[in-house]
Amino acid sequence: MNILLLGGGGREHAFAHKFAQDPGCSALFIAPGNAGTALCGTNIPLSVTDFEGIKEFVLRQPIQMVVVGPEEPLVRGIVDFFKNDPLLRDIPVIGPSAAGAQLEGSKAFAKKFMARHGIPTARYREVTTVAEGEAFLKTLAGPYVLKADGLAAGKGVLILDDRAEAVEALGTMLAGQFGEASRRVVIEEFLSGIEFSVFALTDGQDYRILPEAKDYKRVGEGDTGLNTGGMGAVSPVPFVTPELWEKVESRIIRPTVAGLAAEQIDYKGFVFFGLINVAGEPFVIEYNCRMGDPETEVVFPRLNNHLTELFHSVLDGTLGSVRIDTIPEIAAAVMLTAGGYPGDYRKGDILRPGAPVEGCLYLHAGTKTGGQGEILTNGGRVMALTSFGKTIAEAVSRSLEAAERVEFEGKYYRRDIGQDLQ
Ligand code: AMP
Ligand code: GLY
Repeated sequence: MNILLLGGGGREHAFAHKFAQDPGCSALFIAPGNAGTALCGTNIPLSVTDFEGIKEFVLRQPIQMVVVGPEEPLVRGIVDFFKNDPLLRDIPVIGPSAAGAQLEGSKAFAKKFMARHGIPTARYREVTTVAEGEAFLKTLAGPYVLKADGLAAGKGVLILDDRAEAVEALGTMLAGQFGEASRRVVIEEFLSGIEFSVFALTDGQDYRILPEAKDYKRVGEGDTGLNTGGMGAVSPVPFVTPELWEKVESRIIRPTVAGLAAEQIDYKGFVFFGLINVAGEPFVIEYNCRMGDPETEVVFPRLNNHLTELFHSVLDGTLGSVRIDTIPEIAAAVMLTAGGYPGDYRKGDILRPGAPVEGCLYLHAGTKTGGQGEILTNGGRVMALTSFGKTIAEAVSRSLEAAERVEFEGKYYRRDIGQDLQ
């Protein structure tokens, strides 16, 4: 089967790496891909939101299945675009419809969905004026959490300690700080605890749970500094005990999938549950309608199942009979980033991987292939180095060894990934 994978980050290299070992995938195309995905298939210079360009390529190739990595094409309705086009209707797309992608595309939608289905999450109010917001903020104790309703490239959440500052920040958001995305703001009660990421694959009726992971969002060691897309990840997460898993499945995963089915929302894809453990009780911080990045870089390498097998069962409605088979080893990813990230950063520097560390996966994120076949940096997050171990420390130390050997101007990474879990 010919597969088109949309996206070009570390997550997509992790997908492409799985497909490259999958007997169900005879040819893989990645749009736009990166220098790493080019080693697993053929990169196609198409934007993930160029639906007409994607249509033309899919029909010409021809492609038999489309797999969507990032949220933007899903929120913009790529699944509906395929369903509504007579020429594309029979080509399956792995990912939710626009209605399902609202779980990520609108924080207000996600909160109302959770309220309808009794799913535990922070108390909140959806506001479009400062006056409404100020009144609700007065009912909360700080810190204050303000979320742009729509997609804001991961930057739309502000957390402020002081109420007056929160009111001012709310005014700036509502005035269009994040464009249309912040004309509506969700204000939330602050939850104090430790976050983790859970993933399910669903056909809209049944679901299967993938290994959980912990992501390291802050740029600095000791979880300090600005938020990033993710500086590293570990899977499994030791504090997610069988008891916590039981609560996560019965209170969050099962009601979410049942809620989608009850509301007749077409959802054939991944659900990412951004969770927080508050004194042993799980709450939803956010939903995403896709796999996580860098979580995929530790979750997929632990998965023995072939992705095509899983996706066929999603499409046939046989997901209920599939067994998820994972390796017990711990996987840890250390993300190499460009100097200055998450602020302004350099691009176009030559990257030399150095002598390979045995067993380490070099999953490219922001890279591209230069004119002479060299690897060039091309994004803030440049490369995820994933290793395995019997302990977190063993896995991380392999990735750190690789991190030292990779060379490019301005290279930066955190050395403390996983330390809090040991
Ligand atoms: P989100 O984009 O909704 O995941 O929010 C980004 C980050 O803000 C999360 O990963 C959390 O670290 C933090 N955050 C969001 N909502 C809350 C909350 N209600 N309480 C505490 N922290 C939060
Ligand atoms: N690592 C968080 C995300 O993918 O949104």
